[in-house]
Amino acid sequence: MTMNRRRFLVAATTVVGGAGALTAAVPFIRYWTPSARARAIAAPVEINLEGLEPGQQINVDWRGQPVWVLRRTPEMLQRLDALTDSDELRDPHAEVKAQQPSYISGAQRAVKDEYLVVVALCTHLGCVPLFRPEPGSISADWPGGYFCPCHASMFDFAGRVFRGVPASTNLVIPPHRYLSESRIEIGADPE
Ligand code: FES
Repeated sequence: MTMNRRRFLVAATTVVGGAGALTAAVPFIRYWTPSARARAIAAPVEINLEGLEPGQQINVDWRGQPVWVLRRTPEMLQRLDALTDSDELRDPHAEVKAQQPSYISGAQRAVKDEYLVVVALCTHLGCVPLFRPEPGSISADWPGGYFCPCHASMFDFAGRVFRGVPASTNLVIPPHRYLSESRIEIGADPE
């Protein structure tokens, strides 16, 4: 075989090998490329907070799960402080890191104290808790917060779990950031 013919065969084999690898890669890439629907589901959700009165909350669908945005009143925030100083909560200072992004810390568990943004799924077995803000509405010493109807887990206005209930961790705080005073984006971290 001449040198030129050998070079031609080596070059041809390389090209064919490359084409084979490309052919094999296409289904893989197709498989992993998210569909438009999947991208839409994973996309951040923008919320307008105008019109949300103190004490009210709205329900938002984010990535197929319910999220609440609660505008807390000064009284609600005071009740959080009182609970932090009591021994009624399992994780009053939000030290279990998996339950909130790293930029959320402390008892209020919020970027801005006035607004709680929280995934509305009980950390026991995933039921949707009830919003029961009125003190005394669940029991005589109920301070107001969230009550899970499935197995009676209880959470305060920061989503912190009480002691002695089936749920063992605080409700999850999703990533979120403020785009302006009245607009919030759920699913994106602050820049
Ligand atoms: S699912 Fe909420 S207490 Fe069991």
